[in-house]
Amino acid sequence: MHEENKIRNEKLDNQIIDKYILNMSSAFGAGDITDIQNKIKKSEENIKTNINEYTKNYNKIELEIGCGYGKFLVEHAIEREDVYFIGIESNYKACKKLASKASKRNVENICVIFGDAQHIIRDVFYKNYLFDTVYINFPDPWPKKRHNHRRIVSMEFINNIHKILKDNGLLYVVSDYEEYAKEVMSPNLEASSSLFKNTLESPWTHHLENYKQTLYEIKMRELGKEIYYMVYQKC
Ligand SMILES: C[S@@+](CC[C@H](N)C(=O)[O-])C[C@H]1O[C@@H](n2cnc3c(N)ncnc32)[C@H](O)[C@@H]1O
Repeated sequence: MHEENKIRNEKLDNQIIDKYILNMSSAFGAGDITDIQNKIKKSEENIKTNINEYTKNYNKIELEIGCGYGKFLVEHAIEREDVYFIGIESNYKACKKLASKASKRNVENICVIFGDAQHIIRDVFYKNYLFDTVYINFPDPWPKKRHNHRRIVSMEFINNIHKILKDNGLLYVVSDYEEYAKEVMSPNLEASSSLFKNTLESPWTHHLENYKQTLYEIKMRELGKEIYYMVYQKC
């Protein structure tokens, strides 16, 4: 590529990144513990300032946790311009894919936070933002027993989601991983009956009309996997 074009493209890339990605990881790096804590606080404040600005003209905000390459969220944002969509994603390459998709389609009502969902929900969203809907699509199943503790859908996490949802707000949890769905997600959601009520007639369903497919869902369906959809409403 010609040097001048390369520089122009890199600049464009940075503009796209700045427009769509809020970076929590800039908080980490060298320094003593106080330095690091100060950097984390600064990044959290920076994200809040940006989100306040981005969402100021929207009455509805929806959140996808672990949004991957952003297919699901970008499609929602294109279809529903009156809603602001926020993704949280811990893989930077995936955040860049989302940003590129959103930019190609000139989508204005979306951003992704590069960071850890547990941290962002607890220290950035809690007491500051209330969401109409939260989607958790195909969270990593961590199938090995010794890694089970890394699974994101725990009782504590469900409690924290409850705190950032509006009254009657919806929580969608979707997985292809039978054991995680049947033995962890569904029992934890059912056990949270003081917080959430099941909107389905059964603990889960394998078909959810009009629910947009994520990239991961398409791959899993191609492999013949059964999908578990759970839909709960904040009490
Ligand atoms: C199996 S993929 C599913 C991606 C997308 N939701 C889909 O259905 O196509 C799980 C995604 O969650 C992200 N992830 C895992 N743990 C996370 C965390 N603690 N915070 C934010 N994202 C996380 C991973 O980087 C990955 O992109």
